[in-house]
Amino acid sequence: MKYICTSILFITCIRNASVYGGEDCCLKIGKAKAALSEAIGTLQGTNRLLEETGSAIPSNKVAFHARLTPHVALGSTQTVIFDHVITNIGKAYNQHTGHFTAPFNGIYVFACTFLQREGTSVNLQMVHNSSEISRGHGANGAGVAGSMNAVIYLQKGDVVKVRHYPGFGSQTIHGDWSFFTGYLL
Ligand SMILES: *[C@@H]1O[C@H](CO)[C@@H](O)[C@H](O)[C@H]1NC(C)=O
Repeated sequence: MKYICTSILFITCIRNASVYGGEDCCLKIGKAKAALSEAIGTLQGTNRLLEETGSAIPSNKVAFHARLTPHVALGSTQTVIFDHVITNIGKAYNQHTGHFTAPFNGIYVFACTFLQREGTSVNLQMVHNSSEISRGHGANGAGVAGSMNAVIYLQKGDVVKVRHYPGFGSQTIHGDWSFFTGYLL
């Protein structure tokens, strides 16, 4: 009798275990479903973004943003070539020459932030062809940044770039902490 009782108890335990196992399985399926629906949501979002960036940017938009990667010891009037492109809608900025060439007549906005390096200050100017439109100074000290801004009407083919201010000898601009930005208003 005792033996039979123990057996029944044992069988009940196995049955319970399989029931709990079933619940665990349901929980796992539930979690997998939630993860899947989250992944589907993410994919749908990405798809929407791709559609927007792929087709919704009109061909008359112009905007660029670029970073200078290396430290550069600049000679007089040397162009700063911001070599790492982050944004270049309309491809009007050339990362090999540092030139922005206006693709249309219009009002453009430009900005530049920069850092000096190695115990020298750094003096820059932003030029429209060769006329100065902005000027900036990064003071000698513990990483003192400089900045320049400009708003200007450009005709198609006009060039805007950042260059070393003439007459200061060699000054070093800090890589990775200097950016050049511009867009058609
Ligand atoms: C600026 O330079 C470009 C290219 O050399 C030239 O086509 C354009 O006429 C110049 N613009 C002005 C205002 O000098």
